[in-house]
Amino acid sequence: MSDSRHRLDVVLRQRLESLAEAGVTHLPRVAAIATSTSAAASQESAQATARPAPTRPATGNPAADDVASVAARSAGGAPVDIAGPPPMEAAPAARLDRPSVATPVQATTAEGTNDMARMNRANKLAALDVIRQEVAQCTRCRELASTRTQTVFGVGNPHARLCFLGEAPGADEDSQGEPFVGRAGQLLNRIIEACTLKREDVYILNVLKCRPPGNRNPTPEEAANCWDYLDRQLDIIRPKVICCLGSIAARTLLDTTLSIGRLRGEFYEYRGVRVACTYHPAYLLRNPAAKKDVWHDMKLVMRELGIELDSAGK
Ligand code: URA
Ligand code: URA
Repeated sequence: MSDSRHRLDVVLRQRLESLAEAGVTHLPRVAAIATSTSAAASQESAQATARPAPTRPATGNPAADDVASVAARSAGGAPVDIAGPPPMEAAPAARLDRPSVATPVQATTAEGTNDMARMNRANKLAALDVIRQEVAQCTRCRELASTRTQTVFGVGNPHARLCFLGEAPGADEDSQGEPFVGRAGQLLNRIIEACTLKREDVYILNVLKCRPPGNRNPTPEEAANCWDYLDRQLDIIRPKVICCLGSIAARTLLDTTLSIGRLRGEFYEYRGVRVACTYHPAYLLRNPAAKKDVWHDMKLVMRELGIELDSAGK
């Protein structure tokens, strides 16, 4: 066994053991991994290059792109049901695969009844903490690791039925270590409250755990480096709905190049979790007229969660 293969084997074992200690029950068998390590290793390296190719807006002017596409938006094709892969039974390498999901889904699927959903709060917090510690030491993106003040993991209720997925920490988040605490975060708080929820009820996280210098967009490589952390966070929290804020979040999670204007207003599915997309609160700060669209999207999300909101809205 080569050195690197051996290291991979050790890392896999350690990761599985720490998850098992944290109470995660449906894990791939360690023995199975040890014997299939070489296959997994070559599969992993092959897939690593083919992995999420989150793309950035074509014109470099996302707002213009998306406003145009809202106007041009058609009624859309026939919604299809998409069966996601089994979330926990697959070997880790399979995590690099994801369903291509930029197709709306319609009917509410049965509630997932996996073991993650039954994990108690302490176990979920412990499992998230394992990832939090890995993230805190992460140096996969050299530039981000050397420019960040700290990593920004995520915050909220580990049992949240609703997750908000943003793009990356900004200056305020980088200094406080918590997502969405700056101006965009204040607006997100108001959106959450308008939904009759509190910030503590939901879970808030980003595609990137480090601030890109100057608040530039994450590169596809950075999003790919950070992907596994996000995927594992979502696997533990297992919300009923993930609400993507802005195009980077939506495109990364759904592995699509469609604009946020085109994606919003429908539900998608990621590993059995329903996904909604709406405008980023920072976009709303610049374009308050889009608030009505976000309110419309939030009403869809809340209906999905069984909460009817007053149609007057904001
Ligand atoms: N914008 C984001 O996308 N995430 C944050 O945490 C803050 C601002
Ligand atoms: N473009 C984006 O990237 N995000 C938005 O929320 C709106 C337009």
